[in-house]
This record gives sequence, C-alpha cells and structure tokens, in this order.
Amino acid sequence: MVFVEVRELSKNYKTGEVVVEALKGVSFDVYEGEILSILGPSGCGKSTLLNCLSGIDEPTSGKVVINGVDLHSLKDDDKTRFRALNMGFVFQFYNLIPVLTAVENVELAMLTMGSSQKKARSAAMEILAGVNLDARARNLPSQLSGGERQRVSIARALVHRPAIVWADEPTGALDTKTSTDFMSLILELNRTFNQTFVIVTHDERVSKYSDRILHMDSGEVVQIEDNNSLKVSENADSNS
Ligand SMILES: Nc1ncnc2c1ncn2[C@@H]1O[C@H](COP(=O)(O)OP(=O)(O)OP(=O)(O)O)[C@@H](O)[C@H]1O
Ligand SMILES: [Mg+2]
Repeated sequence: MVFVEVRELSKNYKTGEVVVEALKGVSFDVYEGEILSILGPSGCGKSTLLNCLSGIDEPTSGKVVINGVDLHSLKDDDKTRFRALNMGFVFQFYNLIPVLTAVENVELAMLTMGSSQKKARSAAMEILAGVNLDARARNLPSQLSGGERQRVSIARALVHRPAIVWADEPTGALDTKTSTDFMSLILELNRTFNQTFVIVTHDERVSKYSDRILHMDSGEVVQIEDNNSLKVSENADSNS
C-alpha cells in the first residue's frame, strides 16, 4: 500500500541572482511499512528532498500526500499538528536538548502531543529499555557516548509510535559496529510496529538493511532498486 505519494516535487533555492534547482520534479511512492534509503552524491538534493517530504521545508512546486493528506496544503497549525502526530525525526547530530536527561528528551515528544506526564514517562522508559538504555535514563546527553545519544534520539523519534520516521545521515557520526547495531534496531522496530522509515545515507551498511534504495543525482531520481538480498533472508526467517 502506498503511504507517501511524491508528485513532480521541485525546489529552487535563490541566492541573489543565482537559482539552484535542488529538486527537478521528482515523483515516486513510499510504501507503508518499508525502509527506503536515499543515496546519491553530496549536493544532489537528498536533504532537500527529505525536508520537503517531512514538511520542514516548502517545495517550490509539486505535492506530497501522506496517508491521504496533502501535506503542503495544510495551514501552519494543522501541519505542525499533523507532523507531531505522524512523524519522527532522527538526525546525524542528535539534536538532543543538553539540559534535559535522556528520559526527559524522549518524553518531550509525547508531552508535545498532549500526553500526561505519567503516561509520557512510562512510554519513554519503555522505549529506552527497548534500546538498552534504561540504566542511562537519568544521564544528560553530555554524559552519554555517541552511540548512546543516537539511541536516545531514535527512542525520541519512536516513542509516540509515529507512522513514518525520517532520518538524515543517522549513522554519519557512528563507528561500524554502532552503525550496524543501530540499523538492526531500526529493522526490528520496523518489523514489530510496521513503521515506515525513509533514511538519507552515504552508508552501505544502512542501505543493506533497506527494502528499497532510491538513487538520486543532480536533483533527480535516477533509479529505485529493490533490495533482493534483504527479501531473501527475510523470507527464510518467516518460513521457519
Ligand atoms: N538553504 C539553501 N540555500 C541555497 N542553496 C541550498 C540551500 N540548501 C541546499 N542548497 C543547495 O541545494 C543543493 C542540494 O543540497 P542538499 O543539502 O539537499 O544536498 P545533499 O544531497 O543532502 O548533500 P550532502 O550529501 O552533502 O548532505 C546543493 O547544491 C546545495 O548547495
Ligand atoms: Mg544532506
């Protein structure tokens, strides 16, 4: 089932007289429950695409329909609400709030949605346990390792069970083992909760875990590839 429809999406950046066509009318679908990774050379428009898909930025033209809702036609308040309810975000540099503990950073996503403090705390503790960080829940970000911070940020992105999670270079600052652990965690969460993930990456360890790989170049989608190796290992699992 199609979860996100992207149609003729364009984004021009104007700096003085110079116009950069960062997205040149891209169209594709994201399926419900898949992990889609976006690959391409530096400057080809990956972050721009993710920002337009997630409503962080406005496209110049074209549309993004998420679960039947035309994202960029929503009024600002409605868009903010739609994003808070349906989306989670993971970035390379964590964006954790330095003065809040791990558990406070995680529960914030639920408090923003109007959950009670008690409900937010228990959901945050549960998801932190899921990423093996319950023992670190009261540490500040500065008292955590890079990999631990990344796990806090994935816990924060997922605590309210968003239907779709956007990630921009989530493993950019992680070593090989931590990246692999991170992707196994994403895969497990994806398979357990049927959440959809769209992940911008340079990292082959990430694309290896994806259902499909979208290749971009110069503001265009050049190819969408099925990751058959992943399908094979999954079928083997589900038949057992
Ligand atoms: N705010 C901006 N103002 C002007 N130009 C921009 C802006 N943001 C991005 N660009 C330009 O748009 C193009 C696409 O940038 P984008 O950040 O989407 O690339 P990317 O594929 O994410 O690259 P990287 O892999 O290096 O992160 C680039 O040419 C970039 O210089
Ligand atoms: Mg980028």
